Amino acid sequence: MTAIFKFTNMKPCCRILLPSKNTLFLPRSSNFLPNPNYCSAFQLHTSAPSSFGLKAILGRTNSAWGQSRIFSSSRHFNFSNRSRTPFLVARDAPDLRNFSASVESRANDKNFDRIYVQGGINVKPLQEEKISADERVEGGVNVRKSEWSREVGKEESEMEKEAWKLLRNAVVTYCGSPVGTVAANDPNDKTPLNYDQVFIRDFVPSAFAFLLKGEGEIVRNFLLHTLQLQSWKKTVDCYSPGQGLMPASFKVRSVALDDNKFEEVLDPDFGESAIGRVAPVDSGLWWIILLRAYGKLTGDYGLQERVDVQTGIKLILNLCLSDGFDMFPTLLVTDGSCMIDRRMGIHGHPLEIQSLFYSALRCSREMLALDEGSKNLVRAINNRLSALSFHIREYYWVDLKKINEIYRYKTEEYSTEATNKFNIYPDQIPHWLMDWIPETGGYLIGNLQPAHMDFRFFTLGNLWSIVSSLGTPRQNEAVLNLVEAKWDDLIGQMPLKICYPAVESEEWRIITGSDPKNTPWSYHNGGSWPTLLWQFTLACMKMHRTDLAKKALDIAEKRLFLDGWPEYYDTRSGKFIGKQARLYQTWSIAGYLTSKVLMEKPDAAALLFWEEDYDILENCICALSNSNRKKCSRRLAKSQILV
Ligand code: GLC
Repeated sequence: MTAIFKFTNMKPCCRILLPSKNTLFLPRSSNFLPNPNYCSAFQLHTSAPSSFGLKAILGRTNSAWGQSRIFSSSRHFNFSNRSRTPFLVARDAPDLRNFSASVESRANDKNFDRIYVQGGINVKPLQEEKISADERVEGGVNVRKSEWSREVGKEESEMEKEAWKLLRNAVVTYCGSPVGTVAANDPNDKTPLNYDQVFIRDFVPSAFAFLLKGEGEIVRNFLLHTLQLQSWKKTVDCYSPGQGLMPASFKVRSVALDDNKFEEVLDPDFGESAIGRVAPVDSGLWWIILLRAYGKLTGDYGLQERVDVQTGIKLILNLCLSDGFDMFPTLLVTDGSCMIDRRMGIHGHPLEIQSLFYSALRCSREMLALDEGSKNLVRAINNRLSALSFHIREYYWVDLKKINEIYRYKTEEYSTEATNKFNIYPDQIPHWLMDWIPETGGYLIGNLQPAHMDFRFFTLGNLWSIVSSLGTPRQNEAVLNLVEAKWDDLIGQMPLKICYPAVESEEWRIITGSDPKNTPWSYHNGGSWPTLLWQFTLACMKMHRTDLAKKALDIAEKRLFLDGWPEYYDTRSGKFIGKQARLYQTWSIAGYLTSKVLMEKPDAAALLFWEEDYDILENCICALSNSNRKKCSRRLAKSQILV
């Protein structure tokens, strides 16, 4: 396996790959121009001269290449430094570590306030207490962690043992420390493309598996190294995307130096090499979600309190919360900006990105230190949370009743009072949906734009809406009812369909651009992805439907091991190993392991999902209060919960 480097008689020095005309290592794409006046493909951002680059993490090298604004060892929290100022945190319980206290209006988002939210000023003050990080982490072990981290005393099955072995074999080291896992690790695969890299999204289930096993080091290293990659000034064809952008993936490369020596370098891909040049919007959101989970599961809150880490969170949020031309509180993205990283007609406001965005906002609100510098940001987070959850709950939700409502929509309504706000033409309701939608249950549609509802069921977005409470409690319950009612379509012979149904014929030609990898019922176009098992398990545990998770796990267990842990399965029911599926796909292995461990450790699982947040509900005085519908979904949701 190429990404694990063994150095028998020398210690490698470590640095980040910095292609420039002076280095041996040019970017792989010919699009990168060597003219230094225009496009230097990658440069480290060096706005803070008082920094120590990689030395701060690894303590090994003085390489100037590692310089970055973010690592200043003198500013870090350090567990051994008992004299530091106590850090202000909210009470350490999932819904109380909440920094939504008073915030002021931002000058330039008046529209936002007028349309969706009243100011964010009704938020209840926090119950805060001053606890120093030392008090919370005694001897490196958090008190609560010890409650769930005990071994469950259950003998691991042969399949689990094998899965752990494979997961450990997939670990990538950098300068002797574990920093991630490769996407796939099939020894017989001679053309791994970029599957020998550490993908940010793919590492998440691996990280959860390790954290739940009590092994936090690899996750901590991953978070810090990717943080450092974020601080790069990236330039793609003379254009620089925002500084907060996280890479889609990175690779540890071994590079020959003079005198027969080698050194290891980190080489990230921000989309400039990826097939289709897709922007990895989800990477930063996953990074924030993982950072919170790391704190919850290890008790090491010191990591998220570090100045560089706080800055990393803010940079990601600045990118996501910056003003644009958009009229919706949902994030506007290009096609292929998430797990579905190819053209699949999900550009615009895809549900997956919205649910990850919502979770990342909730995580950030828990983790951001409240001070003068962050108070506007925290206020913007609160406002966005309210607007986003209102928008999704109200406009993305469909069930039998809602589809019937859309079926009878009048169109071309011009007024703020319109029922059919997005001018949806009823003919858009696809025929399959009329027959498919069950009496009980419902789901959040894949995308919403002017005159366009994408009625496909996207599994990850729906599951993560449950996990993060983006949906109302009733909606969350209804999604799982739908999965149960449509079991053969969504689970079939291998959990779980990435989306349902596949686009076929002329629609396939137009939507995918005749993509031979995304043919009907294959890969992203209706394929079945075992990695989604862990998200399904978490959602089921939250909603007290472990029966469903257990049933899905049993199905996966029958085949995954025997089939060599494929990346995805094809056909309507998931009968065949995917046409071009990699074998020994790490997130299939890790997804399975994480599901197993979550089921064994419900206390730990409970740290990883969110319940309804009443502050977010309170914060929304919604626009619908004057409309025909009288009740806004917010109040509706609340009354549903309270009765
Ligand atoms: C495929 C998937 C993407 C994943 C990558 C590496 O491109 O669509 O979600 O991150 O493979 O496994």
